[in-house]
Amino acid sequence: MKYNETNKLKIGVLVSGRGSNLEAIIKAIESGKLKNVEIAIVISDNPEARALNICKEHNIPCEYIFAGPYKTKLEGEAEDIYIKKLKECGVELVVLAGFMRVVKSKFINTFKNRIINIHPSLLPKYPGLNTHQRVIEAKEKESGCTVHFVNEVVDGGKRIMQAKVPVLENDTPETLAARILEKEHIILPKVIQMFANGEIDYDTFPNEPIMLEEK
Ligand code: GRF
Repeated sequence: MKYNETNKLKIGVLVSGRGSNLEAIIKAIESGKLKNVEIAIVISDNPEARALNICKEHNIPCEYIFAGPYKTKLEGEAEDIYIKKLKECGVELVVLAGFMRVVKSKFINTFKNRIINIHPSLLPKYPGLNTHQRVIEAKEKESGCTVHFVNEVVDGGKRIMQAKVPVLENDTPETLAARILEKEHIILPKVIQMFANGEIDYDTFPNEPIMLEEK
């Protein structure tokens, strides 16, 4: 489906913390770079998330919703509440932007092939946590980030877009993370734009991701 000015793609963004990717999406919309997209709701599993303050500053609807007793997953009653909220807000694409929980099958099936995540490595390499530390220890020459569809395999869904950065000799996890984050802020809005343009369909999307051109 192709969206337009009067019928915008409604996205729901799930966050847990800093919210810099969310901020990149908001700024892209505000500047007119990202077109025909509306943030219908931002949900945080953390009441202290900076992401919630960003929403308030930009008048974006947001809510903290308790995500249940398990720190690393969204399951049970909380999962139902998240699904209900996203549906009530008419969300058509769910964007996990630094949401530090694994979503489970009920959530995945409710928004089938309409959930994307941004991960700070060149998947399929380095899924999971502490990616930068592991990349440096393995003496990789390059790393990057990936926007991918979310399925039952953590960081394992079909990849949509990637961007590469070099790993430098003196890199620490922090310096590498910062270099990659700049690229995350480019590729996540780009992929959302492609959804709004009706350019991404799970079934016909190739198995190889689009690579952001290096500048
Ligand atoms: C990013 O590095 C993203 O790739 C990972 O979590 C981090 C979130 O950062 N999934 P922010 O909250 O968007 O600033």
